[in-house]
Amino acid sequence: MSPQQSDDRAAPAGAAATAELYEPSPDVLEAAHVKDWENARAEAEKDPVAFWEERARELDWYEPWDQALDDSNAPFFQWFVGGKTNVVLNALDRHMANARKNKLALIWEGENGEQATMSYFRLRQEVNRFANVLKSMGVAKGDRVTIYMGRIPEIIVAMLATVKIGAMHSVVYGGFSTEALAERIEDARSRVLITADGSYIRGKTVPLKQIADEAVARSGYVEHVIVVRRTGEPVNMEASRDYWYHELMALPIASPVCETEPMDAEDPMFILYTSGTTGRPKGVLHTHGGYQVQIATTLKWVFDVQDDDRWWCAADPGWITGHSYIVYGPLILGATSLLYEGAPDYPYPDRWWRLVEQYAVSVLYTAPTAIRGLMRFGGSWPQRHDLSSLRLLGTVGEPINPEAWRWYHNTIGGGRCPIMDTWWQTETGGFMITPLPVTPLKPGSGTKPFPGIEMDVVRDDGTSCDPNEEGKLVVKRPWPGMLRTIYEDPDRYVEQYWSEFAEQGWYLTGDSARRDEDGYVWIIGRLDDVIKVAGYRLGTAEIESALVSHPSVSEAAVIAVPDEVKGNVIHAFCIPTAGTEKPTEETLKQHVRKETGPIAVPARIEIVDSLPKTRSGKIMRRVLRAKALGEPVGDLSTLAD
Ligand code: WTA
Repeated sequence: MSPQQSDDRAAPAGAAATAELYEPSPDVLEAAHVKDWENARAEAEKDPVAFWEERARELDWYEPWDQALDDSNAPFFQWFVGGKTNVVLNALDRHMANARKNKLALIWEGENGEQATMSYFRLRQEVNRFANVLKSMGVAKGDRVTIYMGRIPEIIVAMLATVKIGAMHSVVYGGFSTEALAERIEDARSRVLITADGSYIRGKTVPLKQIADEAVARSGYVEHVIVVRRTGEPVNMEASRDYWYHELMALPIASPVCETEPMDAEDPMFILYTSGTTGRPKGVLHTHGGYQVQIATTLKWVFDVQDDDRWWCAADPGWITGHSYIVYGPLILGATSLLYEGAPDYPYPDRWWRLVEQYAVSVLYTAPTAIRGLMRFGGSWPQRHDLSSLRLLGTVGEPINPEAWRWYHNTIGGGRCPIMDTWWQTETGGFMITPLPVTPLKPGSGTKPFPGIEMDVVRDDGTSCDPNEEGKLVVKRPWPGMLRTIYEDPDRYVEQYWSEFAEQGWYLTGDSARRDEDGYVWIIGRLDDVIKVAGYRLGTAEIESALVSHPSVSEAAVIAVPDEVKGNVIHAFCIPTAGTEKPTEETLKQHVRKETGPIAVPARIEIVDSLPKTRSGKIMRRVLRAKALGEPVGDLSTLAD
């Protein structure tokens, strides 16, 4: 790929909308699964439901569906109604009938250099055995199993085993701490928790079991804890509650024979908690049928996954990116995936490039924050490695600035790998706005909606914005991978996503965006109180509630402040409780680390006497932000004090 016009200044995303255009090379065109992007979009547009039905037919079903889309009870849409399937049928079972049985499903490397591989056959056996273990603990269809561990193969086994028997998993990212975990266990009312003694990160260990113990004590509900041995550090094991994974798997009950539970297409498959506008995280619920159709299709079309590819999605299985594109998507396509346990820069800043070289990774999918973080160390680290196995690159999670895009493209991709900038959300299940390998690319834009997806940038009154006018990003028709509800809170589902444009029946993404004169979408940022820190999605309310849970803080407000590597960092303002000792910044950081997790720790905490509020008592974050950034505070007429 080569830029038609070059603009070396690091323009902000979307500023000079047509500064650069990267056309696909003849090689890319030749190899591509879909060769004509605009035509594919136009074809799907003629009958989007039929388009998705055709995709669904590429998967296995126990019984076909009677109705592809039921929109009679909007916004509670249903897809492939009457169909029976299970994502495990497609991710594992169907591969037993062909050569994929002996293919590597997973290549794993621990941070300490340990290696493991698993064929499809072996992975299926492990999943079956663990599924039988779960059954023996009384886990049944519809139950919620909470999973809290690091990036080790057992997390994938645990997820698949849960889903196989018709239960739902709720995976809690291993970087969360006590209160965040307790809250999620409580909301899901999980009776079984699967965790590990610890995990490795940057040469240190995180005491997952200890955190899990505290969370279990706080939340109630949990009757059994299954513990994978990873670090070997001593942990407390409570008799008749806690069991070692390896001991259970050695019992006769852990038989490798286990039927996959046929599920209705609309039966719930998992819940994944995500941050929203209130302190309580939302359990985004996905189902068996539509979800797998969307993730398999998008992965196949966007990353063109071929049988000889080595796919590496460098996210964490604990986020939606990991669910859809580490675990389920690649397995459905029968791909070989790399899973790496540790930090990108451990023990040296070339760890990732070493992995690409060693395992001949052909497609790498990661977040802009990781690219910016590694870019900081300079080009000499990747240049020491042979990265010629790479043929495609991808990003997700936040807008990528053109400078990082070019570094990724040239220094990592050798100038030959198109970059798939995929816009989507926990709620959407899979990619929504994304190029295909043949799409002419503009650094910083996810280009246009995927075939069959209809999106727009609109004004408050619902009219479409003009080119380059900023507006609200909406999805105008249902899509198969969409969330079905918020777990046990359908009202919040309606309120959060479907109330703003209720009349039109559009889904509100919460993002602001603009479209340029070529129709390319440029994401500007979140319109709500969600902050993206290093690609992690955090709610201001969640962090504020962690801060005020400290006895010496009576009120707190947090804001996002732009950061070169992380995209944003958090600044917090706290009012001390009267009559208590004034807390120090460090004490409060430790407190947030312990309650919510390292990812939520503010970069700065200021202890203040008051917070700017409106007369109705709403904190004016705009004023705090302007102050923090040294910008004019603007109109203060509504300020109470
Ligand atoms: C942001 C992550 C710009 C966006 C899969 C969205 C992006 C939120 C992109 C969802 C992208 C995701 N370009 N912004 N390519 N991808 N976002 O639920 O603000 O963790 O609403 O899902 O991330 O974050 P979530």
